[in-house]
Amino acid sequence: MSEPKQIYTCQKCGAQFSKWFGQCPECGAWGTIIKQTYTPLESVSPKTEKNAKILSQIKKENFPRLSTGIPSFDQVLGGGIVLGSLILLAGQPGIGKSTLILQLAGNLKRPVLYVSGEESAGQVKMRADRLKIDQNYIRFLASQDISEIIHLTQKIKPSLLIVDSIQAVSSGDGFSSAGSVNQVRLSTAQLLQLAKSTNIPIFIIGHITKEGLVAGPKTLEHLVDAVLYLEGDPYHYFRLLRVSKNRFGPTQEIGVFVMESNGLKEVKNPSGAFLNENRENSAGSIVGAVLEGTKVFLAEIQALINPSPYPYPQRKVKGLDLNRAELLIAVLSRRAGIRLSHKDIYLNVVGGLKINESGVDLPVCLAITGASKNKKSPSDLVAFGEVGLDGQVRPCSFAKERIKTAAKLGFKKIILPQSKEKLCFGNLEIIEVKNLSEAIDKI
Ligand code: TYD
Ligand code: MG
Repeated sequence: MSEPKQIYTCQKCGAQFSKWFGQCPECGAWGTIIKQTYTPLESVSPKTEKNAKILSQIKKENFPRLSTGIPSFDQVLGGGIVLGSLILLAGQPGIGKSTLILQLAGNLKRPVLYVSGEESAGQVKMRADRLKIDQNYIRFLASQDISEIIHLTQKIKPSLLIVDSIQAVSSGDGFSSAGSVNQVRLSTAQLLQLAKSTNIPIFIIGHITKEGLVAGPKTLEHLVDAVLYLEGDPYHYFRLLRVSKNRFGPTQEIGVFVMESNGLKEVKNPSGAFLNENRENSAGSIVGAVLEGTKVFLAEIQALINPSPYPYPQRKVKGLDLNRAELLIAVLSRRAGIRLSHKDIYLNVVGGLKINESGVDLPVCLAITGASKNKKSPSDLVAFGEVGLDGQVRPCSFAKERIKTAAKLGFKKIILPQSKEKLCFGNLEIIEVKNLSEAIDKI
């Protein structure tokens, strides 16, 4: 055995150093660095060497899965919960993680062990009543002690273990408190081992702040098999379930839910969910066909422009990327001659959708142009396309799906980038454009 070595770890960001600091050089936090010991590995055992096999000689494995009983949840996971996998469900406090996981537990119709370190049995019971789920298979334990949770799981062998939340449990070693990076990592590593040794799938719930920081999910993303994010605007009732990492499936799927008085309801055809049915376009609003994962959504993009009283005009966005919006404003001024330099510009995506995709460029530009010229665009028109710094409108992925979605939802015209392929769908009028000026003219 080699000599134990010492290392200093920041409790906030997890950075490691060879000496102690009062202030963490990485994240700037004070008094968060503690001393730890570890024993470095000296030599490799013959067993380890034998275990390292040629890939072509390894037998293909089938991963049995459990259905959650919620089709879009299954889809997001790539076809259900893989046995023995450790899945992190993360999101802001109050977004609906406990609600969704309890619904899943009720749907499973198999023995589930639900451990909460945050809520009492009474609270969880009240939620279960409200959700009207089948409670006969769910065993509840209020505990914050990870070894207690592990021992009970090994004893009763449930089909699924739920730990709500990972920030509330600790190994009780007395060195660091629950919720610190160390505890979160340590508990997760123990749960990972439990999942692999018993083949019981485990869901851990993790809270994140608006910035996605804080001890927790971000630091343990690499430990778990899959990371799901439940997102949404607390002021809107839509919730998106997104997968950002999955060792057993793709990461493009998303599920759309609405929060109702008796829990989260799946939205079966979410493409048009974010559009107001009785929508009447005003100057500066236009519908864009945008992509979320592999799903096409139609979303109303709104722009509001005011003369600015400030030397530096305001640019505020909701549901869009601010840097991208500023870039598009610059392109509009330079390439399409829209004067925006002394104007405050506000952009909004209606319905609480957060768009992070280049296909929204053209609708954003057209919305800003409409607001600037005070001209309404036809309410039966949809647009999509990426806009380059040269003002050219460039093709986007999933063009056919976007067209199809627009036609299905009753739109009559679509403005889109020129493509080599002949695109058409039903009676939808296809308006292909090369650049921004052309798009503005045609509208
Ligand atoms: P919760 O699942 O406790 O959030 P998290 O575990 O992510 O912190 O739910 C949070 C909110 O959801 C809560 O403010 C109330 C609301 N809610 C409903 O609107 N309907 C319901 O049926 C339930 C159970 C909760
Ligand atoms: Mg909760």
